[in-house]
Amino acid sequence: MSCTTLFEQVLDPDNRANPYPLFAQLRRQPVCRQEDGTYVVSTHAEIARLVSDPRISSEDLPDPQKFRWTGHPITDLFVRPIRAEIRRRHQPFIFRDPPDHDRLRGLVMRAFSPERVRRMREETADLTNELIGKFAGKAQIDLVDDFSYPLPVTVICKLLGVPPEDEPQFQGWATQLATALEPNQRADEETQAKNEQCFTEISDFLRDLIAKKRKEPQDDILTDLANGTKPGNASGDDPDEDGAETMNDFDLIATAVLLLVAGHETTVNLITNSVLTLLRRPEHWERLRDDPGIAPRLIEEMLRYEPPVQYRTRLAVADIPIAGVTIPKDAPVVLLLASGNRDPARFADPDRFDPDRPDNRHLGFGGGLHYCVGAPLARIEAEVALVSLARRLKNPRLVEDPPPYRPGASLRGPRHLCLAFDGIA
Ligand code: HEM
Repeated sequence: MSCTTLFEQVLDPDNRANPYPLFAQLRRQPVCRQEDGTYVVSTHAEIARLVSDPRISSEDLPDPQKFRWTGHPITDLFVRPIRAEIRRRHQPFIFRDPPDHDRLRGLVMRAFSPERVRRMREETADLTNELIGKFAGKAQIDLVDDFSYPLPVTVICKLLGVPPEDEPQFQGWATQLATALEPNQRADEETQAKNEQCFTEISDFLRDLIAKKRKEPQDDILTDLANGTKPGNASGDDPDEDGAETMNDFDLIATAVLLLVAGHETTVNLITNSVLTLLRRPEHWERLRDDPGIAPRLIEEMLRYEPPVQYRTRLAVADIPIAGVTIPKDAPVVLLLASGNRDPARFADPDRFDPDRPDNRHLGFGGGLHYCVGAPLARIEAEVALVSLARRLKNPRLVEDPPPYRPGASLRGPRHLCLAFDGIA
């Protein structure tokens, strides 16, 4: 099969349950040109090199009308009403290059302090136990709808400082915005209109909330971003009159929506993929139940073995010679993180799920300057969730294997995961 056909197959929802044999074939040609001029990169060494290469941009993204794999129509929502040259400056920072990217990311990193993230462990444990408590009296649940989906959005609401009474509304927006991430939805005008409406509502809500955080500061991320960080910590970029560095309202709204969207579907899929993978190998599930200390290693291996983000897209801004070919300037580039994670040149016996794997430097959180900001939080959420599920679910079994998957190839994960069990502890 040509590598163009292979990538088409990867995008085909019929192959969502197991794209890994296709990746193995793709890796025979590490950097492969598609008919539409896109370059697909599938090997670990080449991906690791390109995520840190300033010659590829996250800002000048390929035209989403032309390339059906781009999977970032969410940016259309941010940019649609704005002229092209202003667009770039109003993208969330995942879609920006230095120096703007680094300035905005720096501010977020400070607000997302290790201390604040650590404090979320206890809150996450409470939420987890509350959700599992609702399984009482049931013989079967859908892990996605009943557990994995509500957990991360509630956690991010608490971190951002969304008042508890507004959380259900925020959940609804998060669900709607997640559909904006499905490339397949792009052509559907009704969905697009709903997404735009949702984006307007969430922006209005956040604008009001930001104003409140300025008047009555609280201990949360939005308050910190809205009021500026301490001058002692600032990078020196654009300090305001008090010497603290702030974001303008547009960047703040874009950042809050980014944190919601980037941290939601991804964490849902990490938790769901983990339960699916472990229940297919009950010895690992039992090991986790008997020794919760194994959880961090299990999760790292899960991020390698079944990464929720399967690929990311970029644009070459110069000719890039790599692996015997030259990616030409202006070519779109697909970095197949999930394939790099199964590259036998980097990981011994890569198709084996092995939490004891040494030197597990996977690409599950990306790499280089866009490396996932939420990685410590995602690890905590997944750890707390898995340990509690393993401890409290009695004799859990998969009802349907493989489960039905969401159509998206980029953010890949089951739409439902039905579990049968014999009660909760
Ligand atoms: C970036 C994966 C959870 C916020 C990324 C990237 C990946 C990733 C692969 C790199 C994107 C690129 O190179 O273009 C994941 C996975 C998660 C997860 C697998 C869960 C299992 C979270 C959470 C948050 C978050 C919980 C925040 C609440 C972000 C942000 C970026 C990012 C803001 C952009 C960083 C930048 O451009 O500098 N994530 N993520 N992520 N992630 Fe995550």
